[in-house]
Amino acid sequence: MIELVCASANPDKVAEMAEVLAGHAVLLPRPEGVGDVAEDADDLTGNARLKARAVCRFAGAAALADDTGLEVDALGGAPGVHSARYAGDGAGYADNLARLMADMSNVAPGQRTARFRSVVMVCFPDGTELAAEGVVEGVITVEPRGEGGFGYDPVFAPVEADGQTFAEMGAEAKNALSHRGRALRALLEILKGQPPR
Ligand code: IMP
Repeated sequence: MIELVCASANPDKVAEMAEVLAGHAVLLPRPEGVGDVAEDADDLTGNARLKARAVCRFAGAAALADDTGLEVDALGGAPGVHSARYAGDGAGYADNLARLMADMSNVAPGQRTARFRSVVMVCFPDGTELAAEGVVEGVITVEPRGEGGFGYDPVFAPVEADGQTFAEMGAEAKNALSHRGRALRALLEILKGQPPR
């Protein structure tokens, strides 16, 4: 089974990635010495590449990164690539969620469409880079609901889920529908067709 060093530092994401990859790939812990990688690219693919390259170089082994954005149509696609720092540098999940709720306070129910998009990328020491994308369409709810998940999960209701938010679903149900689950399953298919490196 292929071994991938995890290049994502967010433990909530890592837990989901490990669940989706279980039985298909071994996710090795992110080396502590890598330090923070500045995520200052213009798009999700660029940020995933920055993270995966940095960890691949440090570890001398194949590294897997995820970069995710929430695109809200009524906000012209924001927060998008800036989802992690929507409420400013150093903002946490609660701050970002509060800013989103404030920005959406006057948006009518029929206009609250949004999507999560994830780009996952594996960088190999020989310079090969393989990427895949996953998208899930949904709506931004009027109030946060549910205790599970993380980040914007309490206000994102996927269209395929009968009105439940990601935070109201179990981890397995979220992974089956989610941007990250879809991106990782697509990446596994790409990896299957690759020669051993
Ligand atoms: P990044 O991919 O590390 O730049 O993270 C973007 C931000 O989007 C995170 O800090 C979370 O707030 C949010 N986010 C990423 N993935 C998810 C998810 O699956 N559910 C809810 N929020 C998420």
